[in-house]
Amino acid sequence: MADNSLPALLGGPMINPDRPFRFNSAIGDEEARAVQEVLASKELSGFIASPGEPFWGGPKVRELQDMMSAHFGVGHAVAVNSATSGLHCAMMACGLGPGDEVITSPYTMSATSTTVLMTGAVPVFADIEDRTFGIDPASVEANITPQTKAICAVNIFGHAARLLELREIADRHGLYLIEDNSQAPDAIHQGRKTATIGDIGIFSFNRHKVMQSGEGGVLITNNATLYEKAALFRNHGEAVVDAMGIEDIVNTAGLNLRMTEMEAAVAIEQFKKLPRLNAERIALADALTEALETVPAIVPPTVEAGDTHVYYMYAMKFDEKLAGMPRDLFADAMLAEGLFVRAGYLRPTYMEPLYQQKICFGTSGFPFTANPRNANLSYAPGLCPTCERLQDRELMITAVMQPPQTEEDMKLWAAGAEKVLSAKDKLLRHNAAAE
Ligand SMILES: Cc1ncc(COP(=O)(O)O)c(C=O)c1O
Repeated sequence: MADNSLPALLGGPMINPDRPFRFNSAIGDEEARAVQEVLASKELSGFIASPGEPFWGGPKVRELQDMMSAHFGVGHAVAVNSATSGLHCAMMACGLGPGDEVITSPYTMSATSTTVLMTGAVPVFADIEDRTFGIDPASVEANITPQTKAICAVNIFGHAARLLELREIADRHGLYLIEDNSQAPDAIHQGRKTATIGDIGIFSFNRHKVMQSGEGGVLITNNATLYEKAALFRNHGEAVVDAMGIEDIVNTAGLNLRMTEMEAAVAIEQFKKLPRLNAERIALADALTEALETVPAIVPPTVEAGDTHVYYMYAMKFDEKLAGMPRDLFADAMLAEGLFVRAGYLRPTYMEPLYQQKICFGTSGFPFTANPRNANLSYAPGLCPTCERLQDRELMITAVMQPPQTEEDMKLWAAGAEKVLSAKDKLLRHNAAAE
């Protein structure tokens, strides 16, 4: 008789042999029809980089922008070809340049801070706090210098950072607040939609996001000046400023960051589905949290009172003491069981060679060398202890809380965790022997 309690990592039977994790593909007939319509129109992009109506994009791009600005109750939206481009537009629109600093999170995708560097400014990393995994307002405040121009908060994994506190700090110091909301479309913070508390909010439509158009992004803002600058940077602003009578040309030398009509057509259909897509994830995440009640070594995501988590990822804390085993061994054993989990998220951004070697444009050290407090601008390991602790030992993420997974899969995931934890002695012995 096979010993069902033997972990798969040690040769036992997998608890989940035939239901491998799958990403949600909410691409359906609606998107197919919308793309067909664009193809039939033969106008695959509506943009032209010269003054006049087409400077602002084609009909689908504008429809997407109108839908999103109406939904979020803001004056303006700028559709671009990625959230990276949206962040780049946002940083440029805020007037950043060499010598400036932006305080941001080290626990995010690299683009959040690379786009700061692309303006000639430098990112300064505030530590995160270990409930929302967003930047800690106290650390933000401690990092403000005369060079600080903006704070860029990231609503990571689908939950808001402490945006109202950050808004208050930004206002008190005369700073812009940018929200990288790539992972949290339609999340709520204290009764308000994320991406609307900052001066600018950015969304991603890349293929891993809750809503997707293959590639794509949208920036929203209530500020007409920021909107105009972002739209100029999206579409070769340098070529139109004189003809458009724009006197303030700071940061208007632009790129081609335009969204195509096909991407916009898909994004429109996906955005219509967003309430359902979020509701499905929330229901499955709640089911996983309930199933994990009997697994005290795993602390489910915190949902702050007054906030709504939209679960781009389900980010848990693993208590190594309670578990009696290291997180990484637990994660390896879960993967062997056929249950998707990842130990940690991404290394703190400042650990990337870009920051460790301070090499970005060419070999001169620019833009790091352009900072007046260049020598004191530290990216040394140990800079953000909470972030490093979470990444190295405590945080685990899974994306199983999305269709086509079902409530049964959530129960199976928790049962797999119990199986692995109750076999910890065997796993530890095996680990020690392998070392
Ligand atoms: C927090 C965050 N910011 C920015 C990005 C960049 O998004 P995109 O791939 O649309 O450029 C991502 C994508 O993974 C992200 O998760």
